[in-house]
Amino acid sequence: MSTSLPRHVGIIMDGNGRWAQVRRQPRIEGHRVGAESVRDITRASRQLGLEALTLYAFSSQNWSRPADEVAALMQLLRDYLIDERAEIMDNQIRLHAIGDIERLPPLVRDPLDALCRDSADHRGMTLTLALSYGGRESLARAARTLAAQVAAGTLRPEAIDVDTLGKTLPTGELPPLDLLIRTSGEQRISNFMLWEAAYAELVFVDVMWPDFRRNELYKCLEAYAARERRFGLTSAQLAETESDVEPTAG
Ligand code: FPP
Repeated sequence: MSTSLPRHVGIIMDGNGRWAQVRRQPRIEGHRVGAESVRDITRASRQLGLEALTLYAFSSQNWSRPADEVAALMQLLRDYLIDERAEIMDNQIRLHAIGDIERLPPLVRDPLDALCRDSADHRGMTLTLALSYGGRESLARAARTLAAQVAAGTLRPEAIDVDTLGKTLPTGELPPLDLLIRTSGEQRISNFMLWEAAYAELVFVDVMWPDFRRNELYKCLEAYAARERRFGLTSAQLAETESDVEPTAG
Protein backbone atom coordinates (compact mmCIF):
# COMPACT_ATOMS: atom_id res chain seq x y z
CA MET A 1 0.00 0.00 0.00
CA SER A 2 1.20 3.51 -0.82
CA THR A 3 2.19 5.82 2.01
CA SER A 4 0.09 8.70 0.64
CA LEU A 5 -2.81 8.22 3.02
CA PRO A 6 -5.75 10.65 3.05
CA ARG A 7 -6.38 12.38 6.37
CA HIS A 8 -10.14 12.43 5.95
CA VAL A 9 -12.29 9.99 3.97
CA GLY A 10 -16.03 10.46 3.37
CA ILE A 11 -18.27 7.68 2.09
CA ILE A 12 -21.68 7.75 0.44
CA MET A 13 -22.83 4.26 1.38
CA ASP A 14 -25.13 3.38 -1.51
CA GLY A 15 -26.68 0.21 -2.93
CA ASN A 16 -28.16 -1.53 0.12
CA GLY A 17 -31.60 -1.78 -1.49
CA ARG A 18 -30.31 -3.14 -4.80
CA TRP A 19 -28.06 -5.63 -3.00
CA ALA A 20 -31.15 -7.01 -1.24
CA GLN A 21 -33.34 -6.87 -4.34
CA VAL A 22 -31.09 -9.15 -6.44
CA ARG A 23 -31.18 -11.64 -3.54
CA ARG A 24 -34.97 -11.39 -3.34
CA GLN A 25 -34.70 -10.13 0.22
CA PRO A 26 -36.36 -7.14 1.90
CA ARG A 27 -34.46 -3.84 1.55
CA ILE A 28 -33.79 -3.78 5.27
CA GLU A 29 -31.67 -6.90 4.92
CA GLY A 30 -29.37 -4.81 2.70
CA HIS A 31 -29.18 -2.17 5.42
CA ARG A 32 -28.47 -4.85 8.05
CA VAL A 33 -25.55 -6.29 6.08
CA GLY A 34 -24.53 -2.70 5.27
CA ALA A 35 -24.18 -2.07 9.01
CA GLU A 36 -21.61 -4.92 9.04
CA SER A 37 -19.67 -3.03 6.37
CA VAL A 38 -19.77 0.05 8.59
CA ARG A 39 -18.14 -1.98 11.37
CA ASP A 40 -15.42 -3.41 9.13
CA ILE A 41 -14.60 -0.11 7.39
CA THR A 42 -14.45 1.77 10.70
CA ARG A 43 -12.12 -0.82 12.20
CA ALA A 44 -9.87 -0.87 9.11
CA SER A 45 -9.76 2.94 8.96
CA ARG A 46 -8.66 3.13 12.58
CA GLN A 47 -6.00 0.46 12.02
CA LEU A 48 -4.71 2.30 8.93
CA GLY A 49 -4.37 5.53 10.92
CA LEU A 50 -6.95 7.74 9.19
CA GLU A 51 -7.64 10.89 11.19
CA ALA A 52 -11.27 11.14 10.15
CA LEU A 53 -13.95 8.98 8.56
CA THR A 54 -17.34 10.48 7.72
CA LEU A 55 -20.23 8.20 6.75
CA TYR A 56 -23.46 9.31 5.09
CA ALA A 57 -25.85 7.13 7.07
CA PHE A 58 -29.19 8.95 6.67
CA SER A 59 -29.94 11.99 4.53
CA SER A 60 -32.45 14.78 5.12
CA GLN A 61 -34.31 13.34 2.13
CA ASN A 62 -34.36 9.76 3.53
CA TRP A 63 -37.18 10.78 5.91
CA SER A 64 -39.50 10.50 2.90
CA ARG A 65 -38.85 6.75 2.49
CA PRO A 66 -41.58 4.28 3.53
CA ALA A 67 -42.22 4.51 7.29
CA ASP A 68 -41.25 0.88 7.93
CA GLU A 69 -37.87 1.36 6.23
CA VAL A 70 -37.19 4.54 8.23
CA ALA A 71 -38.16 2.76 11.46
CA ALA A 72 -35.91 -0.21 10.64
CA LEU A 73 -32.97 2.12 9.84
CA MET A 74 -33.46 3.90 13.19
CA GLN A 75 -33.42 0.56 14.98
CA LEU A 76 -30.23 -0.46 13.13
CA LEU A 77 -28.59 2.81 14.12
CA ARG A 78 -29.54 2.26 17.74
CA ASP A 79 -28.22 -1.33 17.66
CA TYR A 80 -24.98 -0.08 16.11
CA LEU A 81 -24.48 2.62 18.76
CA ILE A 82 -25.08 0.16 21.57
CA ASP A 83 -23.11 -2.77 20.14
CA GLU A 84 -20.11 -0.66 19.04
CA ARG A 85 -19.83 1.41 22.19
CA ALA A 86 -17.07 -0.71 23.71
CA GLU A 87 -15.12 -0.86 20.43
CA ILE A 88 -15.31 2.93 20.03
CA MET A 89 -14.30 3.58 23.63
CA ASP A 90 -11.48 1.01 23.66
CA ASN A 91 -9.94 2.30 20.44
CA GLN A 92 -9.83 6.00 21.26
CA ILE A 93 -12.36 6.79 18.52
CA ARG A 94 -14.19 10.10 18.88
CA LEU A 95 -17.79 9.85 17.71
CA HIS A 96 -19.25 12.95 16.13
CA ALA A 97 -22.63 13.52 14.47
CA ILE A 98 -23.62 16.07 11.84
CA GLY A 99 -27.09 16.88 10.56
CA ASP A 100 -30.46 17.73 12.04
CA ILE A 101 -29.88 15.52 15.08
CA GLU A 102 -32.90 16.97 16.93
CA ARG A 103 -35.13 15.26 14.39
CA LEU A 104 -33.90 11.78 15.31
CA PRO A 105 -36.10 9.76 17.67
CA PRO A 106 -34.88 9.41 21.27
CA LEU A 107 -34.10 5.74 20.67
CA VAL A 108 -31.22 6.92 18.46
CA ARG A 109 -30.49 10.31 19.97
CA ASP A 110 -30.01 9.06 23.51
CA PRO A 111 -27.23 6.50 22.80
CA LEU A 112 -25.77 8.87 20.18
CA ASP A 113 -25.54 11.82 22.57
CA ALA A 114 -24.09 9.60 25.29
CA LEU A 115 -21.38 8.13 23.05
CA CYS A 116 -20.48 11.51 21.50
CA ARG A 117 -20.14 12.96 24.99
CA ASP A 118 -18.20 10.03 26.46
CA SER A 119 -15.76 9.79 23.55
CA ALA A 120 -15.22 13.55 23.18
CA ASP A 121 -11.62 13.46 24.49
CA HIS A 122 -10.50 10.62 22.24
CA ARG A 123 -7.73 11.44 19.80
CA GLY A 124 -7.39 8.22 17.76
CA MET A 125 -9.80 8.90 14.88
CA THR A 126 -12.95 10.95 14.49
CA LEU A 127 -15.87 8.89 13.21
CA THR A 128 -18.59 11.25 12.00
CA LEU A 129 -22.06 9.93 11.26
CA ALA A 130 -24.06 12.16 8.93
CA LEU A 131 -27.62 11.64 10.17
CA SER A 132 -30.66 13.53 8.95
CA TYR A 133 -27.95 15.36 7.03
CA GLY A 134 -27.96 17.47 3.89
CA GLY A 135 -25.07 19.53 2.54
CA ARG A 136 -27.34 22.38 1.45
CA GLU A 137 -29.20 22.33 4.76
CA SER A 138 -25.85 22.46 6.55
CA LEU A 139 -24.75 25.50 4.52
CA ALA A 140 -28.10 27.23 5.12
CA ARG A 141 -27.72 26.66 8.84
CA ALA A 142 -24.19 28.10 8.83
CA ALA A 143 -25.45 31.14 6.90
CA ARG A 144 -28.18 31.66 9.51
CA THR A 145 -25.61 31.44 12.33
CA LEU A 146 -23.39 34.07 10.70
CA ALA A 147 -26.36 36.30 9.82
CA ALA A 148 -27.45 36.23 13.46
CA GLN A 149 -23.95 37.32 14.54
CA VAL A 150 -24.05 40.17 12.01
CA ALA A 151 -27.50 41.20 13.27
CA ALA A 152 -26.22 41.13 16.85
CA GLY A 153 -23.29 43.36 15.87
CA THR A 154 -20.63 40.78 16.79
CA LEU A 155 -19.51 40.07 13.21
CA ARG A 156 -18.77 42.45 10.33
CA PRO A 157 -20.12 41.23 6.94
CA GLU A 158 -16.68 41.95 5.38
CA ALA A 159 -15.13 39.52 7.85
CA ILE A 160 -17.03 36.58 6.36
CA ASP A 161 -14.68 34.63 4.13
CA VAL A 162 -14.11 31.01 3.12
CA ASP A 163 -12.40 30.30 6.40
CA THR A 164 -15.19 31.80 8.52
CA LEU A 165 -17.91 29.91 6.70
CA GLY A 166 -15.94 26.64 6.68
CA LYS A 167 -15.38 26.85 10.43
CA THR A 168 -19.09 27.49 11.02
CA LEU A 169 -20.02 24.21 9.35
CA PRO A 170 -20.41 21.17 11.62
CA THR A 171 -17.32 19.69 9.94
CA GLY A 172 -15.33 22.86 10.75
CA GLU A 173 -12.97 21.15 13.20
CA LEU A 174 -12.27 18.13 10.99
CA PRO A 175 -9.30 17.85 8.61
CA PRO A 176 -10.07 18.79 4.98
CA LEU A 177 -11.96 16.08 3.10
CA ASP A 178 -9.33 14.36 0.93
CA LEU A 179 -11.20 11.43 -0.54
CA LEU A 180 -14.90 10.96 -1.23
CA ILE A 181 -16.04 7.44 -2.11
CA ARG A 182 -19.46 6.46 -3.44
CA THR A 183 -20.45 2.83 -3.78
CA SER A 184 -23.03 1.20 -6.08
CA GLY A 185 -21.87 2.68 -9.39
CA GLU A 186 -23.91 5.90 -9.13
CA GLN A 187 -21.86 9.01 -9.89
CA ARG A 188 -23.52 11.77 -7.88
CA ILE A 189 -22.78 13.67 -4.68
CA SER A 190 -26.43 13.61 -3.54
CA ASN A 191 -26.21 16.56 -1.15
CA PHE A 192 -23.25 15.15 0.82
CA MET A 193 -20.50 17.52 2.06
CA LEU A 194 -20.97 19.93 -0.84
CA TRP A 195 -18.64 22.55 0.56
CA GLU A 196 -16.11 20.13 2.00
CA ALA A 197 -15.78 18.18 -1.26
CA ALA A 198 -14.40 21.22 -3.12
CA TYR A 199 -10.93 19.65 -3.49
CA ALA A 200 -11.66 16.06 -2.54
CA GLU A 201 -10.66 13.29 -4.91
CA LEU A 202 -13.80 11.43 -6.02
CA VAL A 203 -13.77 7.65 -6.34
CA PHE A 204 -16.87 5.83 -7.61
CA VAL A 205 -16.93 2.06 -7.22
CA ASP A 206 -19.33 -0.49 -8.71
CA VAL A 207 -19.56 -2.51 -5.50
CA MET A 208 -22.81 -2.31 -3.48
CA TRP A 209 -22.29 -1.07 0.09
CA PRO A 210 -23.05 -4.42 1.82
CA ASP A 211 -20.15 -5.93 -0.19
CA PHE A 212 -17.80 -3.02 0.48
CA ARG A 213 -15.33 -4.37 3.01
CA ARG A 214 -11.74 -3.45 3.86
CA ASN A 215 -10.22 -4.87 0.66
CA GLU A 216 -12.41 -2.53 -1.35
CA LEU A 217 -11.33 0.37 0.85
CA TYR A 218 -7.68 -0.50 0.23
CA LYS A 219 -8.32 -0.33 -3.54
CA CYS A 220 -9.87 3.13 -3.16
CA LEU A 221 -6.85 4.26 -1.15
CA GLU A 222 -4.56 2.97 -3.91
CA ALA A 223 -6.57 4.96 -6.46
CA TYR A 224 -6.28 8.05 -4.25
CA ALA A 225 -2.52 7.63 -3.88
CA ALA A 226 -2.15 7.52 -7.67
CA ARG A 227 -3.95 10.86 -8.16
CA GLU A 228 -2.12 14.15 -8.56
CA ARG A 229 -3.83 16.79 -6.41
CA ARG A 230 -3.17 20.22 -7.87
CA PHE A 231 -5.56 22.51 -5.98
CA GLY A 232 -5.75 24.78 -9.04
CA LEU A 233 -1.97 24.93 -9.59
CA THR A 234 0.02 23.45 -12.47
CA SER A 235 2.00 20.24 -12.11
CA ALA A 236 5.22 22.23 -12.52
CA GLN A 237 4.26 24.63 -9.73
CA LEU A 238 3.44 21.73 -7.48
CA ALA A 239 6.80 20.11 -8.12
CA GLU A 240 8.54 23.42 -7.31
CA THR A 241 6.74 24.25 -4.12
CA GLU A 242 6.10 20.78 -2.68
CA SER A 243 3.69 22.78 -0.54
CA ASP A 244 1.06 21.02 1.49
CA VAL A 245 -0.95 24.21 1.95
CA GLU A 246 -4.37 23.99 0.34
CA PRO A 247 -5.19 27.12 -1.71
CA THR A 248 -8.80 28.17 -1.48
CA ALA A 249 -9.64 28.96 -5.10
CA GLY A 250 -9.02 27.82 -8.65
C1 FPP B 1 -28.24 3.83 0.73
O1 FPP B 1 -28.67 2.63 0.10
C2 FPP B 1 -28.10 3.61 2.16
C3 FPP B 1 -28.84 4.22 3.11
C4 FPP B 1 -29.90 5.19 2.80
C5 FPP B 1 -28.67 3.93 4.55
C6 FPP B 1 -27.28 3.59 5.00
C7 FPP B 1 -27.37 2.80 6.24
C8 FPP B 1 -26.57 1.77 6.60
C9 FPP B 1 -25.37 1.42 5.84
C10 FPP B 1 -26.82 0.92 7.79
C11 FPP B 1 -26.91 1.60 9.11
C12 FPP B 1 -25.86 2.63 9.35
C13 FPP B 1 -24.99 2.61 10.39
C14 FPP B 1 -24.07 3.76 10.59
C15 FPP B 1 -24.90 1.50 11.33
P1 FPP B 1 -30.08 2.62 -0.64
O2 FPP B 1 -31.09 2.07 0.31
O3 FPP B 1 -30.38 3.96 -1.19
O4 FPP B 1 -29.78 1.59 -1.79
P2 FPP B 1 -30.43 1.58 -3.25
O5 FPP B 1 -29.96 2.83 -3.93
O6 FPP B 1 -29.86 0.34 -3.85
O7 FPP B 1 -31.91 1.51 -3.07
